[in-house]
Amino acid sequence: MRPGLALAAAALLTAAAAPAPATGDEIARGAALYATYCAACHGPSGRGGGPVADLLAVPVPDLTTIAARHGGAFPRLEVIQIIDGRTGLRVHGGSMPLWGSAFAAETGGSAGAYGAEPDIRARVLALARYLETLQE
Ligand code: HEC
Repeated sequence: MRPGLALAAAALLTAAAAPAPATGDEIARGAALYATYCAACHGPSGRGGGPVADLLAVPVPDLTTIAARHGGAFPRLEVIQIIDGRTGLRVHGGSMPLWGSAFAAETGGSAGAYGAEPDIRARVLALARYLETLQE
């Protein structure tokens, strides 16, 4: 293989292995979704103390220390699954709404060949990306 070609192939492979970087638009969308759906419990900055938090039997976790509590690495897939809530990986299984189901109900589930699933997943991913930017 010519060196140029090998380099291009290596670059392609690297690109395929790495997750697509979050775009500014995606993070802005996550921030807007957060303000609408999450801040009531998790507070405007993610540290807790939202107006609904006091009404819950369970303490609301500080969302800015998720990475710190996982050895410094943000557990993106786990966070996606916790937010979505439809995968059964709900560790605490309680007061947090199941957002995958909530978004499914809201979008009606019938838009296009793939139904509402791409939009639900895009919302959950945007939220996870946004939470990643809040890490201390
Ligand atoms: C009704 C209050 C409430 C709302 C609204 C809420 N959460 Fe939660 N959240 C909780 C509670 C309480 C927990 C602790 C675990 C449990 O009880 O399910 C939690 C846990 C989490 C966790 C796990 C954090 C950790 O450190 O383990 C994440 C991530 C999270 N919420 C994200 C979100 C996102 C994103 C939204 C908005 C789409 C949201 N939450 C909306 C109450 C809420």
